[in-house]
Amino acid sequence: MPILDPLSFECVSHSEEQTQRLGARLAMFLPAVCVVALQGDLGAGKTHFARGVGVGWGAAQELRSPTYTMLQEHHRDPDTGARLYHVDLYRAERDADLESIGLRELIEENDGVVLIEWPERAEGWIPGDAIRVRFDATAGSKRNLTFSTHSASAWQILLKFRKQAFGV
Ligand SMILES: Nc1ncnc2c1ncn2[C@@H]1O[C@H](COP(=O)(O)OP(=O)(O)OP(=O)(O)O)[C@@H](O)[C@H]1O
Ligand SMILES: [Mg+2]
Repeated sequence: MPILDPLSFECVSHSEEQTQRLGARLAMFLPAVCVVALQGDLGAGKTHFARGVGVGWGAAQELRSPTYTMLQEHHRDPDTGARLYHVDLYRAERDADLESIGLRELIEENDGVVLIEWPERAEGWIPGDAIRVRFDATAGSKRNLTFSTHSASAWQILLKFRKQAFGV
């Protein structure tokens, strides 16, 4: 798979509901197996976006920040065997923490969608074909979202999402 310079586009979300809807829309285009890295400061909107991805993907349970457990596995209802893993690495301090939740297996023997909050705690572990979303709080409830990837195939996914979400 060709690895490219980052391809990206930006958009603005004006509310937590809009951020959630964007997550739900992206989920419509995600392949069964992929990594989505959600990067941004505390309260930037990563979990709201992840919650939307969960809705769009069809998770049986609402996605909540797995800050203490670091990993939450989701399935559909009824269980189709498909998996969505919601990872929150805020509390990960060293590689041993990442190993202890099985992050390496999740990424290398990936059998589902892996959403990762605080991916900067696992720098070097995030594959080149991951979809990255960066959240920047600007003013009030405005959030700048930057979608990017180094992979040509993931870029096609992002383009389909952009077309569906913004018509361009
Ligand atoms: N446009 C917006 N999109 C998302 N959240 C928003 C927006 N405007 C305001 N908010 C508020 O910002 C906060 C975002 O919380 P959220 O848990 O999604 O952030 P987070 O990036 O996951 O933070 P953490 O790193 O602590 O897990 C919520 O309180 C939400 O109500
Ligand atoms: Mg969060």
